[in-house]
Amino acid sequence: MGIGSAIRHRLGRWEIPAANAYRGRFINLADLATTLASISSPKRILEIGCGEGAFGEELLRVFPSADYLGIDICPEPGRLFRGDDSRAEFRKMLSTDLLAEKPEPFDLVAIVDVVHHVSEDLRGVVLRDAAALTAPTGLLAVKEWEKGTGLSHLVAYTADRYVTGDKDVRFLDGPELSNLLAEGLPEFEIVCETRIPPRRNNVLFALRRP
Ligand SMILES: C[S@@+](CC[C@H](N)C(=O)[O-])C[C@H]1O[C@@H](n2cnc3c(N)ncnc32)[C@H](O)[C@@H]1O
Repeated sequence: MGIGSAIRHRLGRWEIPAANAYRGRFINLADLATTLASISSPKRILEIGCGEGAFGEELLRVFPSADYLGIDICPEPGRLFRGDDSRAEFRKMLSTDLLAEKPEPFDLVAIVDVVHHVSEDLRGVVLRDAAALTAPTGLLAVKEWEKGTGLSHLVAYTADRYVTGDKDVRFLDGPELSNLLAEGLPEFEIVCETRIPPRRNNVLFALRRP
């Protein structure tokens, strides 16, 4: 358990506000969801690496008639989710296991701040699973923290490495991210590449099949 988890579990009712304030230093998840709502109108959403459900909440807010499935390998996916639970489901599983169940494909598949937590040999697998789970006309959204040389990157790295306790965290720079997507998602093209406040390191790639 990272320092962050150990402390957060003791915060009780202050845990969610504290978690939101901490995350908000790095990314505005409401802005990210609003950006996705400007380019897609999904009925079925999948989030791979949903964590405790913070982004799931934002997705269900901007897509009020969509259903959402969040999957993660963490102990309790969706633990802090407080959105509309009649439209949300959380499961502890790998994307490969979900794919093996042959679900109806999803109109929007989101992978947010996950790639830098996945070991290098598995990143291609996660992207290929995501592609296979995306409907033919669906949108695949990959949001990452782009490696930089400034103070904000140093703070983000330190937070992910020591607060979350992931000793294998490895961020990619711009060309590495572009290469990963080109190699991992050859049948997709980038339809939107943009930055999400409050840090320029937040880069969103939205991809579709041509
Ligand atoms: C920084 S959290 C992001 C959570 C969520 N996407 C959000 O933005 O609120 C990264 C998550 O990726 C998950 N993760 C890492 N490797 C994964 C994998 N191979 N499959 C699914 N989830 C994974 C971690 O367990 C962690 O919950």
